Amino acid sequence: MMILRFVLLCFCLSLAATAYADDDDHDSFWSFSKDKSGVRAVDHMLYRQNCAECHFAYQPGLLPRRSWQKMMQTSSLADHFGDNAELADADRQSILAYLNTYAADDADYKRSKKMMRSIREHETPLRITQVRYFIEKHDEIPLRMVTGNPQVRSWSNCATCHTTADTGSFEEDDVRILGVGKWEDD
Ligand code: HEC
Ligand code: HEC
Repeated sequence: MMILRFVLLCFCLSLAATAYADDDDHDSFWSFSKDKSGVRAVDHMLYRQNCAECHFAYQPGLLPRRSWQKMMQTSSLADHFGDNAELADADRQSILAYLNTYAADDADYKRSKKMMRSIREHETPLRITQVRYFIEKHDEIPLRMVTGNPQVRSWSNCATCHTTADTGSFEEDDVRILGVGKWEDD
């Protein structure tokens, strides 16, 4: 009888452990206070090595799954916004799997939800900077501070203005536009 009880206890414990391990975002179990006001930070080495060579490491939670799938096709990568961003097929598949897992679609982060809500079902944006939510959030910033600013140059350079962008946080209070300074909204 003792042995049976022990076996049952072990079985239950292993079930519980599996349940947590299966959870996509087990961070939420280990730290209850995890901040979800931004997007989930990048934690994939291969993604960082291959997709942050030419620009900021855009978090998967900034675009829907269908956008990443389209962008990550071999033929799309060969002409990636005018550049060649082709990858070895194993790397391409590993990165795509990562993007699929943490895409905005079902992410439990505020900015991912806002991005999703502003994209229509039939739309597959390839640029974060062309999504309605992005445009609305940035439409008061004069172009001389962006495209006309040699230290920023493009809307795509998130981290030249958002000092905490790499952590997945885009709070207005942390904005310092390179060559301009703190953003005063009025
Ligand atoms: C060889 C350089 C290069 C590599 C490598 C590269 N990109 Fe890009 N990417 C670009 C350029 C250039 C742009 C356009 C930037 C601009 O308009 O200022 C861009 C734009 C983007 C954008 C759109 C940004 C916006 O404006 O909203 C996304 C998303 C993106 N890249 C994702 C990726 C991913 C994912 C990878 C890895 C598979 C990757 N990039 C690898 C050069 C590169
Ligand atoms: C030229 C500087 C600049 C660049 C480049 C830029 N942003 Fe911003 N962003 C701002 C400013 C300033 C605000 C605050 C605007 C306001 O509410 O008045 C902002 C607001 C935001 C917000 C909303 C934050 C909030 O508190 O409501 C998000 C999300 C965001 N940016 C994401 C991005 C992403 C992602 C990129 C890159 C693809 C990017 N931004 C590029 C300056 C910039």
